[in-house]
Amino acid sequence: MPTAPFMVQNGRIVRYADCRLHGFSGAVKYGCGVFEGLRAYWNDEQRQLRVFRMKEHLARLAFGIRVLRLEGAPPLEEIEAGVLEMLRANELRETCHVRVIVHLDGDDELSATGPVGWMAGAVPRGSSRFVETGMHVKVTSWARIADAALPARVKATGNYLNNRAAELEAKRDGYDGALLSTASGKLSEASGACVMLVRDGRLVTPSVTSDILESITRATLIELAREAGIEVVERSVDRSELWAAEEVLACGSGWEIVPIVSVDRLPVGDGKPGPITRALQKAYFATVRGERPERRGWLTPVWPG
Ligand SMILES: Cc1ncc(COP(=O)(O)O)c(C=O)c1O
Repeated sequence: MPTAPFMVQNGRIVRYADCRLHGFSGAVKYGCGVFEGLRAYWNDEQRQLRVFRMKEHLARLAFGIRVLRLEGAPPLEEIEAGVLEMLRANELRETCHVRVIVHLDGDDELSATGPVGWMAGAVPRGSSRFVETGMHVKVTSWARIADAALPARVKATGNYLNNRAAELEAKRDGYDGALLSTASGKLSEASGACVMLVRDGRLVTPSVTSDILESITRATLIELAREAGIEVVERSVDRSELWAAEEVLACGSGWEIVPIVSVDRLPVGDGKPGPITRALQKAYFATVRGERPERRGWLTPVWPG
């Protein structure tokens, strides 16, 4: 699906084709940037487009900017205003995936900390078919990047070479997607989402020290599950628990909530999306679509009124 016609670059609305970056910038040469993928949900009945958990995504972006020591990045308020202006410029009245990148600009040495540029755009994008059908995945031969090498909790552009390698391998081998283990063989996350298991009716998910991205959807689901009376446990998870589990799911802003129905060609549970996954999907979609007034605080409206 193509990106919507207008983007925002360094605070200015530009046409998609005019969003430029020099090939020798630190972003290209060293993969030095931080980004966010978030969703804006269209509610047709309410005639409103709302960005889900924008503040939390911007806070994670700010954390990445600090860890990568990017100096001179714009204030978050400026990025937030620019993203909303870009969505309005595109007159988007459909659900979309919003991408924001803050990156090293200029042609300097490896240790340069600026200048810094930023851009954002939106891709009209509904839910993938996997939300309904579930996904067949494999645990790839690539280990998840270890915190001592590159921190996975920073959503750095360069980190995604690891995710890309995992996903390429899985797709080459005929799977829909990839799971990654930590360097010590524990379950980490999926190539673009976090992972949760249902074990004895409890929701179990790899802890934030399992080289995962500290996912906003994961935090959302933990809250929604507890609200529904489901116990949630964050801990180290063994690979073989994927087969011991009654249900497995992946969660992320882009992927949303996807049942995982087999791992390495061995069915999870009975090989069909399970009841807890379906219940969490229901709660999640009602929340992001603005159907639960008590959770409107998580949503930023794009259109006035
Ligand atoms: C590697 C990885 N893990 C987890 C997630 C989920 O994070 P979030 O829920 O904040 O989108 C993503 C992105 O969606 C990701 O790219």
